[in-house]
Amino acid sequence: MTKKPEFDLVYKEHLKLKIRDLKKERDALIVAHNYQRDEIQEIADITGDSYALARAVTKAKQKTVVFCGVKFMAESAHILSPKKTVLLPVEEAGCPLADMITVEKLRQKKEQYPEAAVVCYVNSTAAVKAESDICCTSSNAIQIVRSLKEDKVIFVPDKNLGRYVREHIPEKELILWDGYCVVHMRLTSEEVIRDKKLHPNAEFIAHPECRKEVLELADYIGSTAGMLKYVKGSSCKEFIVGTEIGIIYRLQRDNPGKKFYVPTEQFVCANMKLTTLGWLARSLEKMVYKVTLPGDMVEKAKKSLERMLEVSGS
Ligand code: 13P
Ligand code: SF4
Repeated sequence: MTKKPEFDLVYKEHLKLKIRDLKKERDALIVAHNYQRDEIQEIADITGDSYALARAVTKAKQKTVVFCGVKFMAESAHILSPKKTVLLPVEEAGCPLADMITVEKLRQKKEQYPEAAVVCYVNSTAAVKAESDICCTSSNAIQIVRSLKEDKVIFVPDKNLGRYVREHIPEKELILWDGYCVVHMRLTSEEVIRDKKLHPNAEFIAHPECRKEVLELADYIGSTAGMLKYVKGSSCKEFIVGTEIGIIYRLQRDNPGKKFYVPTEQFVCANMKLTTLGWLARSLEKMVYKVTLPGDMVEKAKKSLERMLEVSGS
């Protein structure tokens, strides 16, 4: 009989103790995105969507923040709080969507539409944020675009979120970028229809990064935090979940009497799953990897992020 599962359990407990000790020693705050592994969400001080976490870091009293998420999120935390030390436990944890646009290509688009405002989804690099007029997240994108005086808007880089915003604000012309989330694009309408037949009493909740034909089947569309709030307030007892599998941890913890179905086994963001207890412990121990960006880029990107925070409030 193998002893490995028992060893894994003991090792995880050892790592958790180490993380708690180091956190105290370093006076650090651990924040984790809703897509992180269960054990990372469990040990974090704060969990949330990208908007809530960006806000939480600005309000934190600790000088060090460990960001369990992907690079663009840790960069936003650094941009909004440049005096704090922001650590990303795994340096390679990126976001393919953020890499689907470059500053050079965005500049070309701006030249093509000089009268348009540029709205940049936070799932983007700091350089692209610096080149934009205002940022948005999936929880405030409609509000942000609606707040603009310009009738024409270049919306980057997620075309699915952009299309969703466009449907809500037909009076504005939205020029969409051809970017998409490789994880959310995996979900097909056929899979959702199949699950709806299997679970006729379930509601379907979806992230706006999903395909148009998938969003058309949704009872609720929103950010990961929006989904958590919706499920808590709903009298429905079963849900088909249209976003990355990590959210199931909070959904189940907050709603023990409700059932959740994941329509595809492919709903895993490999980058989000790179952060493990071992890497988190190492991050605190060695104080790595510190987010650093050129000062002028921070200044410009900060304007876009702060403008978003001003419009969307607390
Ligand atoms: P939220 O803003 O809803 O947390 O989503 C972030 C994200 O990366 C979605 O794929
Ligand atoms: Fe990027 Fe998609 Fe992963 Fe979100 S789920 S971090 S958009 S790849």
